[in-house]
Amino acid sequence: MTFNKEEWAIRQLRKNEETPFGLLLLADETVEAINKYISDSEIYVFEKDEKIIALYVLKVLDNERIEIKNIAVEDSFQGKGIGSLLLRDASERATKRGFKFLFIGTGDASIKQLYLYQKEGFEMSKIIKNFFIDNYPAPIYENGLQLKHMIVLQKSL
Ligand code: ACO
Repeated sequence: MTFNKEEWAIRQLRKNEETPFGLLLLADETVEAINKYISDSEIYVFEKDEKIIALYVLKVLDNERIEIKNIAVEDSFQGKGIGSLLLRDASERATKRGFKFLFIGTGDASIKQLYLYQKEGFEMSKIIKNFFIDNYPAPIYENGLQLKHMIVLQKSL
């Protein structure tokens, strides 16, 4: 991590602030897909020099389970460790609130994300077959491969 702790903070987005769709759309293909979860989720933003450069979105599933529905870092700040910081922050918040499991889903061709999530303690737990074919209007490609199935990863807290 190249930032000093004094230079950044992670906080919940306030109700009167605009939903940062620009960042959300880095992690999810369409506004329609985001609108399916955003109104009953909590948005946490990473702020540096009073500018929001990254975020993650938490959705409670039940008393024991909570899910990261979206995680995104502005392009020019990727690869500097902010994604790892966000995943740790989400784990800490979920643990403090008494949840037992933290979930995150990603595409079968999302190599970087699959690596990062496993590095941060998540384990593959199930595959939702054809998720990206059935739920999006057009094919999505990553690393030269069409996304088909969603890989769900789980972290025990
Ligand atoms: N293959 C494997 N590993 C890679 C690759 C690659 N092609 N590219 C980078 N990495 C590694 C990096 O080396 C680094 O690992 P290291 O710390 O061991 O060196 C790691 O991946 C990235 O770690 P961070 O720097 O902490 O992550 P970053 O700040 O870039 O955030 C994120 C990761 C959120 C995935 C970011 O890249 C992003 O916003 N991407 C676009 C949106 C996106 O895909 N979001 C996730 C969708 S799934 C969901 O939202 C639930």
